Amino acid sequence: MTPSPDSLPPSHIGIIMDGNGRWATSKGLPRTAGHKEGLEAAKRIVAAASDAGVRTLSLYAFSTENWRRAEDEVSFLMGLICTHLRNQYDFYRERGLRVVHSGDLDGLPAKVRREIARVEKDTSEFTGMTVNLLINYGGRDEIIRAITAHRDALGPETPITEESLSNYLDAPQVPDMDLMIRTGGEMRLSNFHLWRAAYAEFYFSDAYWPDWNEKDFKKALTFFHSRQRRFGGVPK
Ligand code: IPE
Ligand code: IPE
Ligand code: MG
Repeated sequence: MTPSPDSLPPSHIGIIMDGNGRWATSKGLPRTAGHKEGLEAAKRIVAAASDAGVRTLSLYAFSTENWRRAEDEVSFLMGLICTHLRNQYDFYRERGLRVVHSGDLDGLPAKVRREIARVEKDTSEFTGMTVNLLINYGGRDEIIRAITAHRDALGPETPITEESLSNYLDAPQVPDMDLMIRTGGEMRLSNFHLWRAAYAEFYFSDAYWPDWNEKDFKKALTFFHSRQRRFGGVPK
């Protein structure tokens, strides 16, 4: 039996993986311990999303505003991202996951840029779920870079349309977001996927990200299936 469109998994899920620091603090641990544990949660949820048939999973790992944090936390995060990308090729290969990056590469340390380029290349032929890693990503920054690239490529006279601008967004193959999940109790977007969130359903969870598991993910999917999406129209 062909599943009805309503029972299909959301094609693109985006996650604001928030609450690592508070998770650690609540346990008397340094904030960095929360980031380490957060990476384990990310791997769990990547596997769960891939098993559920999600086509694209966007993970917000580091925002353009996160540079405001203490230097040691920032460098820990950059190191964690690097080590993960360097050592976890098998994790992506086993599941046929294709990794793409969103965000401003120019603002990242050279070693992070190198690992991103490597994993994108090494996984480019894989046909499973796309994992979109948002590192040094800001929604406003993305839109400004897209407008600039559009103008540079097509000239200032060419009218900008929603469709033409989409081609200049980061990881342009990534479609509109269907479901946005934020853990850690805050109900805000914090500059995540502004363009692609236009018609996303929003799901908020109080749990800190390092505690998130497959069950929490399933709950978010159930929530998604309970929504009636109208896209501005009137249902029959
Ligand atoms: C999210 O957790 C991870 C990143 C922003 C890198 P936080 O580090 O923001 O954790 P809280 O919100 O301070 O608890
Ligand atoms: C958003 O979380 C960024 C990431 C999860 C990477 P923040 O913790 O940076 O957001 P605010 O500061 O609470 O808005
Ligand atoms: Mg936070």
